[in-house]
Amino acid sequence: MSTYMNNAATSWPKPDPVPKAVFDFMVGRGANLARGAAAGRDLETMDMVMECREKVAALFGGHKKGDPRYVSFSSNITESLNIVLKGFLKPGMTVVTSSMEHNAVIRPLRSLEKKGIKLEILPCDSCGKLDPHGFESLCGSKKVDMLVIAHGSNLCGVIQDVDSLSKICREKDIHFVLDTAQTAGVIPISASDLDLAALCFTGHKGLMGPQGVGGILWKPSFAEVCDPFVEGGTGSFSHEEYQPKSMPDKFESGTPNLPGIAGLLAAVRWIEEIGIETIHRREEELGSRLLEGLKAVPGVVFHGSSEMEGRLPVFALNIEGLDNGVIAGQLADIGIETRPGLHCAPLAHKTLGSFPQGALRLSVGFFSSEEDVDRTLDAIKALISQG
Ligand SMILES: Cc1ncc(COP(=O)(O)O)c(C=O)c1O
Repeated sequence: MSTYMNNAATSWPKPDPVPKAVFDFMVGRGANLARGAAAGRDLETMDMVMECREKVAALFGGHKKGDPRYVSFSSNITESLNIVLKGFLKPGMTVVTSSMEHNAVIRPLRSLEKKGIKLEILPCDSCGKLDPHGFESLCGSKKVDMLVIAHGSNLCGVIQDVDSLSKICREKDIHFVLDTAQTAGVIPISASDLDLAALCFTGHKGLMGPQGVGGILWKPSFAEVCDPFVEGGTGSFSHEEYQPKSMPDKFESGTPNLPGIAGLLAAVRWIEEIGIETIHRREEELGSRLLEGLKAVPGVVFHGSSEMEGRLPVFALNIEGLDNGVIAGQLADIGIETRPGLHCAPLAHKTLGSFPQGALRLSVGFFSSEEDVDRTLDAIKALISQG
């Protein structure tokens, strides 16, 4: 019997149409993108990729819907963030981030810092929340070029106040880049309401797609001022030795993950059908059940908030006297999958006071059940009583 409590790492299982779409693409179509003679299979592939751009633009675009040409695909959000950060930031510029970021943000920024980009890391409180006033006062004291933060934490699930941060960015003319790894597909996000320069996404978590596909929804004016991070064949402008400036080719060199895009398209269609509100409600229900159950277990210490409000159903905890790695191993032995350790987010653990020992992370998803939650709670209680 398997109980999956690691949806923050990747969602599982996937909706049935997702693996089917990957299989059907590989078996039935399988043509490369814009690298054929416009045979039937070539055209079908182009249509499939365009439809996926349209769905992503509609999902994240908000009232302006988003322009599908300004959706570029990547392998994952780590690549998306690298494309945006390294494509825009130049020596002398200032970029601001928070102390709750994943290494997908922190590592590229640390490497850019060595090249002369000024990096400011705003401290978050003990629940991982970033205070927009802290950002505002920093912006009052120096010129800031970019803000990049995660919408929702992969460690303790805290959701940042992106509305207030966006307002400040708008007032001060700062490019706002959002890491939606944990929130895309799970809570509504509007790139136009937030006036995002770039919304970076990964396909395999809340978006329910396969691993190996992600992307960026760009604000057109921002895409224009970013340099491409990878250059090469685009299947277009083949007479040119220079990278095309037109979108989305500018940021999409080399053969894309077409089976992944086929799966992502099926996943976004599925999300549209179910509705993000329904997904969110269901995850909150399961999250509340898990949270209330954990609160009743003596010895459980939460890192981050112990309330359901303003968070995702992602919980970081330790159990007094027990090692989180050992507990995770014992849970895995009985088929309960979690993630211990530092979750690629050492700074976030430092913020929440769980560095260097790390924490046990439990994260439910849309396909989790009440039985999964109860089985996990019973197993944790049993481990505690065994000492
Ligand atoms: C907040 C956040 N950002 C970035 C990433 C990196 O995602 P990926 O491995 O899909 O690039 C993750 C993955 O857990 C994450 O939770």
